[in-house]
Amino acid sequence: MMKHLLTGEEFDEESLRKLIALSSSLKATRGKPYAPRPLEGKSIGMIFAKSSTRTRVSFEVGIHELGGQPIYLDQSKTQMGRGETVPDTARVLSRYLHGIVIRTYAQSEVEELARYATMPIINALTDEFHPCQALTDIFTIYEKTGGVFNGIKMAYLGDGSSNMANSLMQASKLAGLEFVIGAPCEFRPDPTIMNRQVGPGSIAWTEDPVKAVENADFIYTDVWVSMGFEKESEERIRVLKPYQLNMDILKHAKPDVKVMHCLPAHRGEEITDEVMESEHSIVFDEAENRLHVQKAIMCMLIGGM
Ligand code: CP
Ligand code: NVA
Repeated sequence: MMKHLLTGEEFDEESLRKLIALSSSLKATRGKPYAPRPLEGKSIGMIFAKSSTRTRVSFEVGIHELGGQPIYLDQSKTQMGRGETVPDTARVLSRYLHGIVIRTYAQSEVEELARYATMPIINALTDEFHPCQALTDIFTIYEKTGGVFNGIKMAYLGDGSSNMANSLMQASKLAGLEFVIGAPCEFRPDPTIMNRQVGPGSIAWTEDPVKAVENADFIYTDVWVSMGFEKESEERIRVLKPYQLNMDILKHAKPDVKVMHCLPAHRGEEITDEVMESEHSIVFDEAENRLHVQKAIMCMLIGGM
């Protein structure tokens, strides 16, 4: 039984299947009078130390739709921002809340919060992981392929060391995808995560962007400069330029390849306008699915479903 969602590794094949089924059913019943409300009478804190559009809004709406009350906390305006420790905050907030969604810098902060809290903690992005996004992406692929993962190739171009690359490695291996990362040596995927993850899928890394996308069913990209890495902007943009997702690179994938991006996109850097607006792009379906999948995560962790 999962207590928290901290890295994404809490999910096994069985709980991933359950998450997908629950997400589908919540998507189908959204707005219906019989839609489940397992958070009735519960309050969920949302601590954010970094910017957000999708995660903040989809969690707030999701908590509300499940019958609960979201409480948004800009971390810098809480006493944490003035030095109150994570263990003290965890124990205080556990007396009021039924769960916490947290977006911050260090993964260790999320893990420390979970060690001291007596309620479920959900990682809404750290420098290392973005499990809510990656699980949503697996659900989106499931919808687009009609439930098939076996034999499906997803390529990822760009920063292979990002939180998205880490979480996608985990989630796609678990789901059973063939996942190939095209990234330069400077931003290569973490070999520990590549080798540690269990599941029926496979993970590979190449420095050749064309080889990475050859015959791909899905191509994913993420920003070259993640939140918190702004000081490295110039170097990152220079090194990652050959990994741009543009119409030329798309020609090497399957003709009906689908393009994915967690968003926000930096158009003209990791992805071109033309690709974003093309018939290949499914980025807004992905964004919508954040709502359904995060509702399913909260139903499982906090709603007792
Ligand atoms: N994809 C994602 O997490 O978007 P936000 O930063 O807008 O929440
Ligand atoms: N890698 C990006 C993801 C944003 C959703 C970042 O951390 O900024």
